[in-house]
Amino acid sequence: MGFGQRLLGSRHGHAEDGSGGQIEHARRYEWWAAVGFAGQRPRVYDGLVRLSGARPGDRVLDVGCGTGYLTGRAARVVGVSGQVEGIDPSPEVVAYANDRAAPNTAYRLAGAERLPYEDGTFDVVLSSLAVHHVPTAQRSDAFAEMYRVLKPGGSLLVADFRPPSNRFLNLIIGGLSGHAMQHNPIDQLPVLAADAGFEIVGTGNRRPMLSFVRAQKPHKPHTSRED
Ligand SMILES: C[S@@+](CC[C@H](N)C(=O)[O-])C[C@H]1O[C@@H](n2cnc3c(N)ncnc32)[C@H](O)[C@@H]1O
Repeated sequence: MGFGQRLLGSRHGHAEDGSGGQIEHARRYEWWAAVGFAGQRPRVYDGLVRLSGARPGDRVLDVGCGTGYLTGRAARVVGVSGQVEGIDPSPEVVAYANDRAAPNTAYRLAGAERLPYEDGTFDVVLSSLAVHHVPTAQRSDAFAEMYRVLKPGGSLLVADFRPPSNRFLNLIIGGLSGHAMQHNPIDQLPVLAADAGFEIVGTGNRRPMLSFVRAQKPHKPHTSRED
C-alpha cells in the first residue's frame, strides 16, 4: 500500500480484480474530495444531479454513495415528497452517511453488482467515482442491476474519474489515489450502459476530474426481432 492509500485510509489501489477497493475512513475521504475538487465539489455534484434530470418527488438511487455527498445534493432536489437511497459495501462510510442523513434519505450496505431493490423502483440512478471500485468482472452485472431497478423511461447518470488537465492537480490526485483512478473505466461507461440495454443520451466531462454518461431505460424493452 502506497503513501496516498495510507493517507486516504483506503484500499484505493489497483487490486488484482481490477477494482479500487472500499473507502474505509470517511473523514479522510472527505478531506481528499475537498482537495481534489479544489473547492468545486458542490458546483460539480449539483451539475451531475441536474444532468440526471432528477425532479421534486422522484425516487433516486446513488450507487457507491461513499460518505453520501452526491446523495445529499440529490435529496435537496427531490425534496420532502421524494426519496433518495444510497448504497455502498463499506460499513464505515454507510455509518458516517447514516449519521448525517436528511429525513428523505436512507443508506444501505450493498454492492453495485447486487442491488437490494425490486425491479422498477427508481426514477433516477446516479453514481459518481464508484465504477472504478467495482471489480472489472462485475461491472456488467452492476449496469444490469442499475437497469433492472430503474422504472421504464428512468434516467441513468454515471460519472467516473478523468485525469485532470491541470498538471499540478493531476500530480496531487494521482499521488493520493493510486493506480485505480489512473486506470479508470471512463471509455467503457457508454459501452457498459448500452450492453445493459440503455439508450445513450449523451457523454461529457466536468472539470476538474469527471467524465460522465447519461442514458435512459427504454419505455419498452428492446426485442431481438420485430413482432
Ligand atoms: C471514490 S468513492 C466515491 C464516493 C461517492 N460516490 C463520491 O462521489 O464521493 C467510491 C466508493 O465506491 C465504493 N465501492 C467499492 N466497491 C463497490 C461496489 N462493488 N459497489 C458499489 N460501490 C463500491 C467504495 O466503498 C467507495 O465508498
